[in-house]
Amino acid sequence: MSNLEFLFNPAHIAVVGASRSTQKIGYAVLDNIIKSSFKGNIYPINPNEEEIAGLKTYCSVLDVKAPIDVAVISVPAKHAAKVAEECGQAGVKGLIVITAGFKEVGKEGLKQEQELRSICKRYGMRMLGPNCVGLMDTHSPVNASFAEGFPNRGNISFISQSGAMLVSILDWSFEMGMGFSRFISTGNKADLTEIDLIESCADDPQTNVILCYVEDITDGERFVRVCSEASKKKPIIILKSGTSSAGAQAASSHTGALAGSNRAYDAAFRQSGVLRAESMNDLFDMARAFATQPLPGNSRTAIVTNAGGPAIVATDAVEKYGLKMARFTKETIDKLREHLPSEANLYNPVDILGDARDDRYRFALETVIEDENVDNALVLLCPAAVTEPEKTARTIVELNNKHNHKPVMAVYMGGKTLTEGRSYLTTNSIPAFTFPEPSVNSLRGMLQYAQYLKAPDPSEPVELTGIDKKAVRKILDDVFADRRVVLLGHEASDVMSAYGIQVSKTYLAESEDEAAEIGEKLGFPVALKISSPRIAHKTDVGGVAIGLHSDKEVKKAYRKIIENVHYYLPDAPIYGIEVQDMVEEGIEVIVGMSRDVQFGPLVVFGLGGIYVNLLEDVSFRLASGLTTREEVKKMISETRAYTLLKGYRGKKPADIEALSETILRTSRLVSDFREITEMDINPVRVHYKGATALDVKITVEEVNEKG
Ligand code: ACO
Repeated sequence: MSNLEFLFNPAHIAVVGASRSTQKIGYAVLDNIIKSSFKGNIYPINPNEEEIAGLKTYCSVLDVKAPIDVAVISVPAKHAAKVAEECGQAGVKGLIVITAGFKEVGKEGLKQEQELRSICKRYGMRMLGPNCVGLMDTHSPVNASFAEGFPNRGNISFISQSGAMLVSILDWSFEMGMGFSRFISTGNKADLTEIDLIESCADDPQTNVILCYVEDITDGERFVRVCSEASKKKPIIILKSGTSSAGAQAASSHTGALAGSNRAYDAAFRQSGVLRAESMNDLFDMARAFATQPLPGNSRTAIVTNAGGPAIVATDAVEKYGLKMARFTKETIDKLREHLPSEANLYNPVDILGDARDDRYRFALETVIEDENVDNALVLLCPAAVTEPEKTARTIVELNNKHNHKPVMAVYMGGKTLTEGRSYLTTNSIPAFTFPEPSVNSLRGMLQYAQYLKAPDPSEPVELTGIDKKAVRKILDDVFADRRVVLLGHEASDVMSAYGIQVSKTYLAESEDEAAEIGEKLGFPVALKISSPRIAHKTDVGGVAIGLHSDKEVKKAYRKIIENVHYYLPDAPIYGIEVQDMVEEGIEVIVGMSRDVQFGPLVVFGLGGIYVNLLEDVSFRLASGLTTREEVKKMISETRAYTLLKGYRGKKPADIEALSETILRTSRLVSDFREITEMDINPVRVHYKGATALDVKITVEEVNEKG
């Protein structure tokens, strides 16, 4: 049982700020609790009244002298702390603070909110809000909110950071005939956040699906941990709004520019088994599907239709959303041929023609559902003179109940003529849509979740040997001592080596003679690259020369590079020039990392080179979830670069194992050192045998506690 049970199923409730005035929120809250058939005692608190709504009224919660589980607070912000203090003294377990005027109004409000939080902490009270609408549980039942109305009983929990969104959805749900188990407004999330509430709803026996509207998630690491557990119990579908690309625009690395918080949310949701809705429609379409239908065993979809055009649209959607059109067995085809008119299309989509009455729908739908090659079915109906939408709706419900292991969805394409039929379907647990795409998208969501549940638990993190943390620590300390935030090429190269990542050998030369000497030692040909903390894109300032075959060529290139840099960036400090061995050919990919404020290091992989941002052929993972070879392989295989790596057009395959090792070790490095804020290895050259990090860029920032 969830530790927030007292909040959703309280024995006794106090309403602080209860009022006789029907215009006040304190009245609405009290009225809602009474009307929701709440079974426990209700204690209105108002120093000026003796009785409200027929209930004895108290000056303070301290006067109640009986246990109170929850106090709903609806007094002005300036009184809230005093009331919270009294609640603490009275042993109240949880507060629902409706009052607005806290952190959302600025500094002073934030201070008051912090005070509220510390009072709650002191007394071990939990708090929903402040600045929230309250909560409702249709099963306990309790309506501790000032919303208009109480939802129909159902098995969907809806958690919303926006109070306005919550009350709008509530109103809309009556029209849609949707039922809910819980409605929760999180408000400012000073104490309880969506993470606590998701955890609680996952343990609620009356909840089958958890929906969430969030604007921000502030504890990314805990979100991933809690949701990974919760999503194994119930599907969690989240609509995340307000994803900004400002962070991405400010980034200096390729990875940083590609990443952005949206990618981090995507990676975090995926890692924790959370489905991401793209819109409000999407959120509730999926909710209806999950709440009423079984999960599909697989993706093979059958379509039964009385019209060709919509069936083509639905078939396109099946392909677009990664499902498959079912291929019927011979028995199914024979049976369909025997009973359907000769003009009907017997193959998927089954077109039973515009003159189809209910009997034809019944026969075709039952036949395809019974086919072992079919995992789910879609019924399309367009209104024609002879169509029987309501009768067919009853048939769909009946067949869905009879074959209740395969999901069925209905698309009733039309307006008024189909309203009754659609409404019958909805109230009888068949998700009914007006157009095909959302129905297929909902099926996609269900399939994604079914596959997540079926996937084996991730194996243990790989044991990586040959890691020298101390060496990296020393390099970073030297960089900080030099008051820099960017590692020089040879330092970055040493960091790679310390983590067992094969890297092109790089040495710093401070004169042309020294450069020539190093070239001699490395063996020609070599490459030269300018070494300056101010120069991120060396080629742009003429700071790179490659394929130098002699000491003479090296010296000449050295002078030219210095000249170029002086010309383009006269003020840039020059530490010298790096001499690097020329690395054998291979496929150039990028491995990088951008640190997300909420979710930590986000690792990127994709096609490398200078067009990486243009092509955006990349995949992302949170480093915390990138600890096994299987996950790295999956990450690589999501890109088109993978096609090249496997050996495109007769080319020999590249060493994907070596590349995986580079990604795994990079992931470990950025997890071990919080100081690394951004990183690009662009390119990593993947050879037939081995993979070499060619150009490594590491940006750092000092942190208080060393990682
Ligand atoms: N203990 C008990 N009762 C008290 C106390 C106290 N310490 N102090 C005041 N009261 C009583 C008052 O006497 C009054 O009762 P009365 O009508 O009998 O006189 C009652 O509590 C309410 O106090 P008021 O001063 O009248 O305050 P009012 O009801 O106007 O406003 C409220 C209080 C609603 C909390 C307001 O300050 C507020 O925050 N409003 C915004 C709420 C909101 O929008 N929340 C976010 C929702 S999310 C969304 O956007 C939809």
